[in-house]
Amino acid sequence: MEIIICRDYGEMSKRAAGVVADLVRRKPNAVLGFATGSSPIGLYKELIRLHKEEGLDFSGITTFNLDEYVGLAGDHPQSYFHFMHENLFNHINVPRNRIHVPSGTEKDHAAFCQRYEAMIRKAGGIDLQILGIGSDGHIAFNEPGSSLGSRTRMVTLTEQTIEDNSRFFKSEKDVPRHAISMGVATIMEARKCLMVANGKNKAKALAAAVEGPVTSLITASALQFHPDVMVFADEAAAEALTLKDYYRWIDASRRQ
Ligand code: F6R
Repeated sequence: MEIIICRDYGEMSKRAAGVVADLVRRKPNAVLGFATGSSPIGLYKELIRLHKEEGLDFSGITTFNLDEYVGLAGDHPQSYFHFMHENLFNHINVPRNRIHVPSGTEKDHAAFCQRYEAMIRKAGGIDLQILGIGSDGHIAFNEPGSSLGSRTRMVTLTEQTIEDNSRFFKSEKDVPRHAISMGVATIMEARKCLMVANGKNKAKALAAAVEGPVTSLITASALQFHPDVMVFADEAAAEALTLKDYYRWIDASRRQ
């Protein structure tokens, strides 16, 4: 795991976006996995800037999102489908027919989840998966206790996640209780994972994920077994890392 501690949210977003942009330049038909939530918004803003100002071309990419709330259709303002269009897809030249966000409104969720996994396989697998981390250590909506071998499926959100995400809704009772989420094992199959973590409410979860034991209680800790993970964290999120000076030293040595 490569841990990169950044001065602030702006630097974290720019450096993380640089990794995505490098891949898209090197492999124009890359398959990108996207996350929603507040953490990657700055990264997406920078990708939009690179597209508009520097001509970064997304016309060959295919995308797969991590998750979606059950019961929210794509036109619901709090759906992740809507979020991705508002915050990224509407502002870059990705072809609409190569955008995949799990559907939360299928009659048969289990059958849809199998199809979603098959679509990822058919696209050749995910080259780069962007991730945030929940304050309870989740990746996608793989809440504590999720199997580290889990695949895309319907999950039940924890009270903590519902409380955390209520900031996007009118009230806590409007937050859906269930979601469709890629599994931990689905994410682990991505060829590269890139996590962004900012703010002090992520410090405990990030330290547990990166330096604690690998456990289903912190599903992000499974990434310790992944051969190619970059974690971009701002100072506040990095606060509880035991080895933060060493990570800074490695990053400084590499940039010399
Ligand atoms: C969203 C997702 C979640 C978020 C996590 C952090 O697609 O998969 O795991 O990344 O809940 O959310 P924020 O960034 O809003 O703190």
